[in-house]
Amino acid sequence: MGRKAVVAAILAAAAVCAVAGVAVGRRVRSKRKWGRVIGVLKDLEDSCDTTVGRLKQVVDAMAVEMHAGLASEGGSKLLMLLTFVDNLPSGREKGTYYALDLGDTYLMALRVQLGGHRPSILAHDVERQSIPEHLMTSKGEDLFNFIASVLEQFIEREQNGSGFPLDKRRNLAFTLSFPVKQTSISSGILMKWTKGFSIDDMVGKEVVECLQDALMRRGLNVRVDTLVNDTVGTLAVGHYHDVDTVAAVVIGTGTNACYLERTDAIIKCQGLLTASGSMVVNMEWGNFWSSHLPRTSYDVDLDADSPNPNDQGFEKMISGMYLGEIVRRVILRMSQDSDILGHVTSKLSVPFILRTSLMAAMHEDDSPDLMEVNRILRDTLEVPEVPLKVRKLLVNVCDVVTRRAARLAAAGIVGILKKIGRDGSVGITGGKSRSDSKMRRTVVAIEGDLYTKYSMFKEYLDEAVDEILGGEVAQHVILKAVDDGPGIGAALLAARNSPEDVDTAQML
Ligand code: BGC
Repeated sequence: MGRKAVVAAILAAAAVCAVAGVAVGRRVRSKRKWGRVIGVLKDLEDSCDTTVGRLKQVVDAMAVEMHAGLASEGGSKLLMLLTFVDNLPSGREKGTYYALDLGDTYLMALRVQLGGHRPSILAHDVERQSIPEHLMTSKGEDLFNFIASVLEQFIEREQNGSGFPLDKRRNLAFTLSFPVKQTSISSGILMKWTKGFSIDDMVGKEVVECLQDALMRRGLNVRVDTLVNDTVGTLAVGHYHDVDTVAAVVIGTGTNACYLERTDAIIKCQGLLTASGSMVVNMEWGNFWSSHLPRTSYDVDLDADSPNPNDQGFEKMISGMYLGEIVRRVILRMSQDSDILGHVTSKLSVPFILRTSLMAAMHEDDSPDLMEVNRILRDTLEVPEVPLKVRKLLVNVCDVVTRRAARLAAAGIVGILKKIGRDGSVGITGGKSRSDSKMRRTVVAIEGDLYTKYSMFKEYLDEAVDEILGGEVAQHVILKAVDDGPGIGAALLAARNSPEDVDTAQML
């Protein structure tokens, strides 16, 4: 071999080595990056830890806070609001009642016909209207004018079918799914907004008056005689179907719970008298807080960036408004720490772009190659196709976030059961021992898309309630999904509250 040939061979070998070196270097770097991403997932898993032990601490904290909120005004982050609902529907309700349900992104108008004996719900019509986004942050009057116009159209459309004369006065129940300090079954003051609503001039106002004025401006002969929270409507409809229903939970855009409490346990309202000796309490559990809650850096940042920092902490870990956003924040961190999603797209940095319904669709994608995950990444986040192992990783992120949410909601439910002595143990102020408290059949009505439409969420929640209570007690606790609860329940309560069915709640 000549010199030239030797040199050429050496150069060629060096080039091969260099290429191989680059490839190896790239592999090592990409392995390192993948390791970093796995590290992000691992950290997330660790900080979302919801072992049964931890859940039991949350259960205890919930029960303790309930006591504190009932003991004094402002005694707890749980508002524990009076609802003036002391009697739940019996099945004997009669007449035609209307309801307006203002919950989050939509408004529902309902008409419910009740026959007077079971099954007393003869018919019901529902119309759903999205609330234009600008109205959620505008002036109170604009929002109430919109609500009145939706009811007006609903009534106009029924003229052909309902047989209800136009000039006859209609009774209406108003479901308002925000914290309201009620002064009676038909009046209350808005305390604050949640779920992205922010209409400053409404806070502190009497909400029924605002609605009544707007209806009058439209010339509608409608009297608003019942005001309820969505959880209370859900409890009413749950109890109507099953008299063992003692509590109701909503897990939708926001989250909250209510339950039937003995009036003598509502210490902050000494002298509260009801014929039944009990009253439904709206807990506003979205604002629950405890150091036992497993909080991540993503929760801290989400809260700091929200319009209501340090508020609704439990809701921000559990409800549909926030779960997709937590996942987006984790994915953003992963893509900043590595190139698993290619370059960081500008869409990935847009808050709330990954709605919880899309996150649930990614989580529940059962196609072998996770094509739904791909589609959502492409269409919503403008992320080009990524390898299967990355798609699997993202499904894992959704799983961790949803599992934590569902298990915390389960702990909240068991907390209520503990407070009312239905968890198989002794209530925290009770004096009975385990052996003399026989477990009664106990039903909790649950409303909201996360529980009724997101099967993985439901599975995790049901499973956690079983784990916390233990099989023997859990067999007496029934979690019942309820659809369209708040509106129909509110109409049932309006009927209960009509002059024939006198409301007896009063303060001495
Ligand atoms: C509100 C509650 C409501 C819940 C579910 C929360 O943000 O504060 O009043 O019941 O959402 O809609």
